[in-house]
This record gives sequence, structure tokens and C-alpha cells, in this order.
Amino acid sequence: MQEEILLEKLEREKILSRSQFITLLQGWQKEGIAQKVFEKAGRLRERYYGKDVYIRGLIEFTNHCKNDCYYCGIRASNGKVRRYRLTKEEILSCCRRGYELGYRTFVLQGGEDAGYKPDEIAGLVEAIKKAHPGCAVTLSVGEHPRAVYQRWFDAGADRYLLRHETADDMHYRSLHPSSCSPENRKRCLYDLKEIGYQTGCGFMVGSPGQTAEHLAQDLLFIEKLQPDMVGIGPFIPQRDTPFGEEPAGRFELTLFLLGILRILLPDVLLPATTALGTIHPEGLELGMLSGANVCMPNLTPDGVRGEYALYEGKASEKRGNADAAEDLQRLKERMEKIGYHVTVDRGDRRRRCS
Ligand code: 5AD
Repeated sequence: MQEEILLEKLEREKILSRSQFITLLQGWQKEGIAQKVFEKAGRLRERYYGKDVYIRGLIEFTNHCKNDCYYCGIRASNGKVRRYRLTKEEILSCCRRGYELGYRTFVLQGGEDAGYKPDEIAGLVEAIKKAHPGCAVTLSVGEHPRAVYQRWFDAGADRYLLRHETADDMHYRSLHPSSCSPENRKRCLYDLKEIGYQTGCGFMVGSPGQTAEHLAQDLLFIEKLQPDMVGIGPFIPQRDTPFGEEPAGRFELTLFLLGILRILLPDVLLPATTALGTIHPEGLELGMLSGANVCMPNLTPDGVRGEYALYEGKASEKRGNADAAEDLQRLKERMEKIGYHVTVDRGDRRRRCS
């Protein structure tokens, strides 16, 4: 079958042409193809990362955002969100708690919040690195001038997550208001890489209007960028956004793409994301078995957690006042059941040495 030949080629050459990616993606539901992808992806995952699951403590420190992305629950014009901003002390206390639990990476994620000045974020990074010298700090706070990224890198930030959302310019413009540009988004990603961050891009699966052609472009963009991390998850509608009535992305297609990404970039850090865990009760397990090797449990304090509602029914808010320790214990058990082990480790990329 054509798809099988393409898969072999992808594994061998680590690239396909645009039309070959499209054929492979259009054939994702054909008998036996997904299984083949998962077998290959599973083997590669174990070659680089064994049975290890890297964890990152996610701290959603502000839900203020100046942007108005049509899909996102914390978009500026959503008046229904109760806005919050954690203080430096609250964030440091999340990290202390996380460190005790075994986290060695902290991810500071937030909207593009003009209320947090670049120098304050730099101060935060410095304080976390000082308190936990062996830990990695990941920032995920959107688009900024190169000098600001440099300032944060100099302050000690190790990694940066900025999903490209979609590599197709027209599609990008259909998901965002005109104040956001695909050119700037991509410029940010190249700046981050050049500065020396371990850089992560990514996209939503099944965002409104997405086609196999768009996904093929995402894969080509990712191959060109050669990121250290790729975050993907299904699009999930949020009722107070313009896309509130759109259908959610397909769970199985997300798994398929996780597998393809593992074959494309065998040593990449690939999370089973919160969105994946939200649309399926065994999303995290199936994500791992499809090629993922990272999980990002929430360390955000209970009091505000429900307010970081990017989409409907976000997994970490569903259990009400879940506690970070219980969350992690539960994750450890879930991973053990599929033969994987949560590790106490910074979880840097294990580079392919070919
Ligand atoms: N469904 C799924 N993912 C979403 N994100 C934002 N809104 C949604 C949604 N409705 C993702 C975006 C963003 C990341 C932080 O969350 O890809 O980059």
C-alpha cells in the first residue's frame, strides 16, 4: 500500500514531499496504517527515552491576554473570564511545592499580559533558578521582541514554548484577528532558536478550516525549524468564543500525528497534552503509546485553576479542588499501568547522534 511505502520512506529519510505528506495524512484511517505508525513511533520513543515519562510542572500564572484569537477561552474580548495574575511569591511557592514532589522543570505559561513587564518576568526566572539551580525553566508567554527573549534567556530561562498554531498563512489569518501575523509568529520561533532556547512549536488538530494540506504544511514547517519540542492537541471549542459551535478535533487523528511527529523527529520532546487528556479518559496513556514522552501536570493553585479555561472541560479543572500531589500520584499510577515510569529529571532532549 502506498501509505506503508511512504511511512518507510519517512522513517529512513526523515522527510517527505508535500504531496507525499498529504497522501499519508489522507490515508490515516486506512486499515492497519495507524497501527504501523504507532509501532514505529513506539520503537523510536524507546530507543531515545526508554520507558521514561518526563514531567513538567505547569504554572498558569496569568490569564490576562491582549490577543483575541478566535479559538481561545482567555481571549481579550471574553468578558466572562475572571482575570487573575499570580504574584511572584505565589509562583515561587508553586515551584517549591513542585520541587518537593519531584518536578525538575517549571513551565511558566500565561496570556500576553502587558501587566507583567519583561523585567518582572526576568526577575521571576532569576528567582526560580536561584531557588532551584538544577531545574529547567520554560517560558510560554507568547510573541515578544527578540531583545526581550534575549533578556529572559540571559536571566536563565532554558526553554520556550510558542505553538505556531498553523503553518499556512491563510489558515492562520482565519484563526486570528488581523493584529496577529503568521510572519511574526514564525519570526519569534526562529529568534528563540537562534538565541539558544530549547524551542517548542506546535498546532491544534482539527482547528476550524484545517485540511490535510494544512497539516502537511505544519509537518514541513516543523521539519525545517527542527524544534526541540512539539506540542499538539485536539481543538476543543470554548463556548464564549467565535468558534464555540465548531466541532472538536479528532482524538485518533491527534494520536496519528503524534506518531508521525515521533518518526519525523525521533528524539523530539513530545507531550501528551492537557487537551488530549481532556477529550478522552485515557488520552494521556494512549498519547504515550503513540509516541509522546512528556506530560505537563498542573501546579497552578486551586483557587484560580478553573479560570485558565482555554477550552471546555479542561482536564485539570474537572476534579474540582484536585491537589498537585494527588494529581501526580494518579499520573504515576496511570503510567505504571502501561509500563512507563515518571522520572525525577530535568528531561532535556536526548540528541540523535547520527
Ligand atoms: N482548544 C485546544 N487548544 C487550544 N489552545 C487555545 N485554545 C484552544 C482550544 N480551544 C491551545 C493553543 C495555544 C495553547 C496554549 O493552547 O494552541 O497555543
